[in-house]
Amino acid sequence: MRLPNRPLSLLRPLQTHLYCVAAFQTSGRLLSTTDPAGQATVEVLGHAYQRDDFTNVTPKILAKVGRNLHNQSHHPLWLIKERIKSHFYSLYTCRGNPLFSVHDNLSPVVTVEQNFDSLLIPPDHPSRKQGDNYYLNRETMLRAHTSAHQRELVRSGLDAFLVAGDVYRRDEIDTSHYPVFHQMEGVRLFSNHQLFQKVENSEDLSLFEAGGRRTPHKQETHSLEAVKLLEFDLKHTLTRLVTHLFGAAVDVRWVDCHFPFTHPSFEMEVRFQGDWMEVLGCGVMEQQLLNAAGAGNKVGWAFGLGLERLAMVLYNIPDIRLFWSQDERFLKQFQVQDIQLPVSFQPLSKYPPLHNDISFWLPTNSQKFIENDFYELVRSIGGDLVEKVSLVDKFQHPRTGRWSRCYRISYRHMERTLTQQEARLVHQQIEHAAEAALGVQGRY
Ligand code: PHE
Repeated sequence: MRLPNRPLSLLRPLQTHLYCVAAFQTSGRLLSTTDPAGQATVEVLGHAYQRDDFTNVTPKILAKVGRNLHNQSHHPLWLIKERIKSHFYSLYTCRGNPLFSVHDNLSPVVTVEQNFDSLLIPPDHPSRKQGDNYYLNRETMLRAHTSAHQRELVRSGLDAFLVAGDVYRRDEIDTSHYPVFHQMEGVRLFSNHQLFQKVENSEDLSLFEAGGRRTPHKQETHSLEAVKLLEFDLKHTLTRLVTHLFGAAVDVRWVDCHFPFTHPSFEMEVRFQGDWMEVLGCGVMEQQLLNAAGAGNKVGWAFGLGLERLAMVLYNIPDIRLFWSQDERFLKQFQVQDIQLPVSFQPLSKYPPLHNDISFWLPTNSQKFIENDFYELVRSIGGDLVEKVSLVDKFQHPRTGRWSRCYRISYRHMERTLTQQEARLVHQQIEHAAEAALGVQGRY
C-alpha cells in the first residue's frame, strides 16, 4: 500500500502535561505487555484487547476514537461527506434508487488481515511497520485506510458503495498531517454487460482474456478494452466529483502511482495555494481481490480520498488541527441551511508561533532511533500546541562517529498568543522525555 504521507480541544486552556512514559509507547523496543499503570489490555469502544509487543496506541490517540467528526452535523468534514453523498445519490441511480450505498459507521478497529492481507499487501511490505501504524496488538489495529473494508463489502454482495471513516497513521508533524484523519472510499463493480452496454457492436467484447500478460497498463486477466473503459469511467467520475465540489475552474492533474490492490493506479492532485496537493488515490481493482471476495465475474474500480485535504482546499482552512477545534468561531461558520450553499470561511486570526530547537546525540546504533517515535513523543506531550517539527541539522562527530540531530519545534496556540514561558515548559518536558524514552543523549 502506498500510504501517502498523513490531540485535545484547541479551546482548552494550555495544560502543563505532566510527562509520564505511560503517555506513549515507542515502536516496540521499550514495550512491555502491560502498560505502566499495570493494564494488560487496551480498551477501545467498549472492547478490551490484549496488549502484546506490537501494542503502540497512545491514550491521546485512543481519545480520538469515537469522536467521528465525519458524523458530527455541520462539521466541515461532515459537510464535505454530505456533499459527496448527495452528488453520488443524484447522479448515479438504478431504477430510481441510488446506486451507491453509504457506510459511515464501520468501526475503525480492524484486523491486521483486513487492513493489509485482504488487500494483497505482502507480509514484508514497509507500510506495515509499527513505526507507521497504530496497533492494538499483533492481530488488531486502528485502520490506516478505509480500503480495509473493501473485501467485506464486496463479499456482502454490494456492487457500488462509499465508506467514510476516521483513519490512523503515525506520521510527520506539520500543518497538513495529523495522526487521525478521514477518508472516503468508493468502489464500483461492473459485469460484462454493464461495462460494455454503451459500446456499439459490443457482443464480442469480454472483460477477461486468457493467457494475457501484466503490463504497465493492465492486469494479466483483463482485456485492454475493459481496462480502458474502466479507467475512463473512474477518471470521469472523479473529475465530475471535484468539479461539483470546487467549480469548473479547479486545476486537476493525474499522476501514475502504485498500490498493491489496484493496477493500473493513479493519484489526483489539485492545485492549492500555488502547489499541487494530492487528494486521492485510485485505480482498477486487482482481480485477485475480487475473486477472493466472490465477485470474480466482475471488474471494478476503487478510490480513496482525504476529506481533510478536500476541506482545506475548499474552505481555505490553513491548519489540519482546526478540524478538532470546538471553538464556536470555527464551527459556526459551517452552519449552512442547505449543504449546497457556499461557506465563506474566515480564518481565525493566526497567533504568532514560537520556535524552540532540540538537539541530541542518537544512540550509538543510530538505526535504533525511529523518527516517528520522536514525533509521537512530541505530540504526546505538546498536543495541539505543536504546529510543526522539522529537522534542521544532522551531523556525525568526526571522532566518536555518533550522529547528532537538531529539530525545530514550532509551537502555536490556535486561539490565543502563547508565551515563551509556556512553550518552554512543554519543550523541557519533551527534552526530558526524549532522553528517558528514546535512548538519545540531550545536548541541552
Ligand atoms: N487506500 C489508499 C490510501 O490510503 C487509497 C486508495 C484507495 C488507492 C482505493 C486505490 C484505491 O492511500
